[in-house]
Amino acid sequence: MSWDESFADRYEEWSAPMTADIAFYAGLARAADGPLVELAIGNGRVAIPIAQATGKPVIGIGLVARHARQGPCRLPRKAGVRLDLREGDMRDLALDEPAGAHLLPVSRAAAPAHLGPTAAGPSSASRPSLRPGGRFAWNAFAFDHHVGARIDGSHQDRPVPHSVRYWVGDNRIDLTLDGGGTSSLWWATKNEWLGLLDVAGLEVAALYGGFAGEPFTDESHEYVFVARHRRATG
Ligand SMILES: C[S@@+](CC[C@H](N)C(=O)[O-])C[C@H]1O[C@@H](n2cnc3c(N)ncnc32)[C@H](O)[C@@H]1O
Repeated sequence: MSWDESFADRYEEWSAPMTADIAFYAGLARAADGPLVELAIGNGRVAIPIAQATGKPVIGIGLVARHARQGPCRLPRKAGVRLDLREGDMRDLALDEPAGAHLLPVSRAAAPAHLGPTAAGPSSASRPSLRPGGRFAWNAFAFDHHVGARIDGSHQDRPVPHSVRYWVGDNRIDLTLDGGGTSSLWWATKNEWLGLLDVAGLEVAALYGGFAGEPFTDESHEYVFVARHRRATG
C-alpha cells in the first residue's frame, strides 16, 4: 500500500485538531468572485466548512479517490454542501470556467511539498484557470533543518508506522512505511516560492507568517501565501 493510501485511513483522526487555517481560507473564499477550487483536497477537512460558510460549491482536486472517500467527504449531502470531487493531479489543473480562488491548504503534512522539483506545476497551472482578480493561496512549512537532522534515522508510529531519512542537499525528507512504500517531501524556501510565482506570471498579494494575518518575519515557521495575476508594468 502507498503512503497516501495508508495515511488516508488515519487522516481524519490525525488532522482533527488542525483547524487554524479554516477561517483564513473561508475568508478568501467569501471574497472570491467565481468558482472555488481546493487543490489536493484530501478528505475535505477544509473544503466542507468552506462550502458551508460560503454556500458556494467547491471543486476538489485530489489524487487519491480513497482519501476523498474518507471522513467528511463521505458526507457532503448530509452536510448540505456541494462538492465537485475530481480525481487528478493538481499540476494538470484545467477548468471550463476560470476560478475566483484556488486554495491549497495543508495540514502539517504539506501538499506542496509532495511536488518537489515540479512544485512550479500548481502555480503554472493556476494562472490560466484563475480569473484576473482571483487569488491562489497556500501555506507551507518553513523547513527547519534542525528538525530534519533530529529525526533523521528515527522510527515514528504516527500517523502510520514509518522510518525517516533527511537529505540535506535536496531539502527532502523520505518517509518509508514499515510495509515498504516511500513518500518524499521537499521544501521550498521563500525565494524559491517567489521564483516559482514569477515564472508562472503570478505575484504575491500577501505573505503572512500565520493564519491570523501576522507578518512573515525571520522568526516565522510557516509561509501563508496569497498570489494573484502579475500586474502589467511600464
Ligand atoms: C496532507 S494531505 C492535505 C489535504 C488537505 N488539503 C488538507 O489540508 O487537509 C495531502 C494531499 O495531497 C494529495 N496530493 C499530493 N500530490 C498531489 C498532486 N500532485 N495532485 C493532487 N493531489 C495531490 C494527497 O493525495 C493528499 O490527499
